Amino acid sequence: MTIRFDDRVAIVTGAGGGLGRAYAIELAKRGAKVVINDLGGARDGTGHSDAALAVVEEIEAAGGEAMSNGGSVTEYEQMAEMVAKAKERWGGVHILINNAGVLRDKSFAKMEPADFEFVVRVHLIGSANCTKAVWETMREQAYGRVLMTASSTGLYGNFGQANYGAAKLGLAGLAKTLHLEGAKYNIRVNTLAPTAGTRMTEDLFPEEAFKAFAPEKVAPAALFLVSEDAPSNAIIGAGAGVFQAAYVTLTPGVALKGDACTPEGVAAHWSAITDRTDEIVPQSGAEQAMLIMKTLQAG
Ligand SMILES: NC(=O)c1ccc[n+]([C@@H]2O[C@H](COP(=O)([O-])OP(=O)(O)OC[C@H]3O[C@@H](n4cnc5c(N)ncnc54)[C@H](O)[C@@H]3O)[C@@H](O)[C@H]2O)c1
Repeated sequence: MTIRFDDRVAIVTGAGGGLGRAYAIELAKRGAKVVINDLGGARDGTGHSDAALAVVEEIEAAGGEAMSNGGSVTEYEQMAEMVAKAKERWGGVHILINNAGVLRDKSFAKMEPADFEFVVRVHLIGSANCTKAVWETMREQAYGRVLMTASSTGLYGNFGQANYGAAKLGLAGLAKTLHLEGAKYNIRVNTLAPTAGTRMTEDLFPEEAFKAFAPEKVAPAALFLVSEDAPSNAIIGAGAGVFQAAYVTLTPGVALKGDACTPEGVAAHWSAITDRTDEIVPQSGAEQAMLIMKTLQAG
């Protein structure tokens, strides 16, 4: 079975290079019409970035269809305009890959509040802006596939990336609620934590690994997660052709009654509280309260 995107319109943010470019080229090869968003030349983010234009040219040279957009994901109005232009030319927007991103790494002790805010703004608010800009269209169409780009830093932490990690786990949280709200409109929302050799990571990878971790080795996960038969609410890791799944789990816990319901009681029961036997993967926040009721009844 070949996965195709004929008659689908896709927006990939930050697609002038790295992972976004790889996703956009593969989507176009498989029939999608693709908006290549990346920061424009002008200070207000308008205009067309050279990098985005180069990707459009590459797609068109291969017989595909694409348009460039120089809006910044941090500006909601620019994202709304981008969506309007895609709809004007191609009649809808079916796929959004929120991929644009920046780094301002420093230990938290040395990080300026402005650098924390900027990184959260580009990744988290930026992805919320783009998703908001397409949401109503996807609801009206009763079709939408949205992919958030998280990171192992968000899921598990990484020294020197407090701003980035906060934003990236925020995106996984955003995806979980949008998955619930989008379900009845056939909007599926997933999260991808990629590992790839790009300009963002070029100083971290040794040369050989840089090649093995080519962005093209992440693209299969991104494309499946925005395809017709995509799952929803998945958190997928991908790098160098290895594909993984991550989960947010919850242990059954322990009911501490009477005198045991104290900080000392929590300390005394720590290993039982954190025991992962029979842990679950809640499908919504309400399941925490349901599991609490079950644990109370059991114990
Ligand atoms: N490379 C990795 O190993 C890795 C790991 C985890 C997560 N990620 C995430 O994957 C995504 C892609 O990263 P990459 O490695 O390809 O890096 P990259 O730097 O090549 O790509 C990011 C792109 O986003 C664009 N961009 C930045 N700010 C923007 C804005 N305000 N509006 C529009 N475009 C903007 C940049 O111009 C750039 O082209 C990012 O969200 C990144 O955090 C990458």
